[in-house]
Amino acid sequence: MIHLSGKTALVTGSTRGIGKAIAFKLAEAGATVVITGRTEDRAKEVAKDIKAKTGADTFAVELDLSFKESIERAVSRITEELGAVDILVNNAGSNRDALFIRMKYEDWEEILKVNLTGTFLITQLLVKGMLRKKWGRIINISSVVAFIGNLGQANYSTAKAGLIGFTKTLAKELATRNITVNAVAPGFIETDMTENLSEDIKQGFLSQIPMGRFGKPEDVAGVVLFLASDLSNYITGEVIHVNGGLF
Ligand SMILES: NC(=O)c1ccc[n+]([C@@H]2O[C@H](COP(=O)([O-])OP(=O)(O)OC[C@H]3O[C@@H](n4cnc5c(N)ncnc54)[C@H](O)[C@@H]3O)[C@@H](O)[C@H]2O)c1
Repeated sequence: MIHLSGKTALVTGSTRGIGKAIAFKLAEAGATVVITGRTEDRAKEVAKDIKAKTGADTFAVELDLSFKESIERAVSRITEELGAVDILVNNAGSNRDALFIRMKYEDWEEILKVNLTGTFLITQLLVKGMLRKKWGRIINISSVVAFIGNLGQANYSTAKAGLIGFTKTLAKELATRNITVNAVAPGFIETDMTENLSEDIKQGFLSQIPMGRFGKPEDVAGVVLFLASDLSNYITGEVIHVNGGLF
């Protein structure tokens, strides 16, 4: 049994999908969990639901990673209310797919901003509290496409590959301070992000997955819980692939 009582965890983009499953798992283990959503109402709804089901303390905050001001405002609110964040899960992400030849500059810029620059900004603000406590866990949600590429995802796969370099560098810089930094690279997980893909594309992916099924958000959440806990004390700079054998 993993116990995270006394720890505060923040999961970005935790109103649905993988982020919500991660928030739920960390709350079940006893952490106080900060739920972030692009609207405060939605974050509050999910925070209330998780508290009711797990008994853990939860806190809801509005956060849009496209805007530096939104990140700064959210971090100030969290640190005023709860103090330092011990476990940061950089989960929020979005995609705007188009074949490279037709990809608009705006779509390239926006996807790098949300998935990569936003992660840089929020991590830099929150790591200060971890440095003071001499304990921290940073877990970045990358993707299998960072390793194998994917048609129509030049922007998204580049951002997710960038997160791997970010993870490995931070792991080295923060290792002596007892802060571990790892990445999880999910394969095809059933969420809103993958729901709208055509049946043909889904079947194409499925045929390449040795386990013969798509992943569930809980498949990713379990690995994040392990990386957030003391069971992973001596693991840093790693990437854990959660993809049913796809890669
Ligand atoms: N579903 C998959 O197959 C899959 C595979 C590999 C990686 N991932 C990654 O896992 C993470 C979670 O994805 P998901 O499948 O649950 O997708 P999802 O679309 O269901 O959830 C994404 C979350 O990120 C939030 N978000 C989007 N843009 C944001 C912004 N500008 N600021 C703040 N929050 C924002 C959304 O509100 C939502 O809560 C993402 O980083 C995604 O890239 C997903």
